[in-house]
Amino acid sequence: MFDNSQNSSLREKALNYLEFLSLYEKELYLESARAVEKVEAPRADESSAMRPAQSSLNPYPAYAPYDSLHQMEAAVGGCLRCTLGSSRNKLVFGTGSSNARVVFIGEAPGAEEDRLGEPFVGRAGKLLDTMLDQIGWERSEVYICNILKCRPPNNRDPLPDEISMCEPYLHEQLRLLDPDWLVALGRVSAQVLLRTTAPLRALRGRVHKYRGKPFWVTYHPAALLRNQNLMPDAHQDLLNLKQMVLAGPDIEGNGI
Ligand code: URA
Repeated sequence: MFDNSQNSSLREKALNYLEFLSLYEKELYLESARAVEKVEAPRADESSAMRPAQSSLNPYPAYAPYDSLHQMEAAVGGCLRCTLGSSRNKLVFGTGSSNARVVFIGEAPGAEEDRLGEPFVGRAGKLLDTMLDQIGWERSEVYICNILKCRPPNNRDPLPDEISMCEPYLHEQLRLLDPDWLVALGRVSAQVLLRTTAPLRALRGRVHKYRGKPFWVTYHPAALLRNQNLMPDAHQDLLNLKQMVLAGPDIEGNGI
């Protein structure tokens, strides 16, 4: 459809935009950090908005306002940072074990998730549960969340400004969880988190690094529902993941 020069200019635009988003996000964090700095310093034995990050998963450790996922979920429940806030039924924060070693990250809630306030509870979610079961894992022992916490209308792809508004929440959530492994479910979360425009086929099958943590990429369960031929490869992805999780997080990888 496009000739090569159009392709590379589109690619360049996409990369510039991703760079802009990370600068914008930095500003957002710095603003929050400056606001926190103005507050009187807490006593050492009090819980603090400025306590040091437990890990590098939140790139701007000065923005670390929550002590627990529970506290964070209660605090962000009324979010109206982007327009999806006013069209959602329920914000879908994430579910699973706060001690999970593995966090699965999808794209955004669909209709069923929006109705129930839980990630991956529709058809794709049922398939994810089955696939976890096939490798001997239960949903309750991992953690499942999304890039976006609110449903985009008609399940369209997340827009860049929605991602830039919501991603800081994910970073803080990951800091609180401090898992050993992150798993992107599908192209969108893989591309957003790895800051790449590479296709899914180029991202699957090797370990990436996301802020120091091993990061694995597999198919989105909705893609598997559309194309059952992908199922054996997806099952193998999870078997490989399980083997690596059991071997521990010290593994080489590429990425941010
Ligand atoms: N698809 C996603 O990416 N996330 C969900 O929570 C449900 C479907």
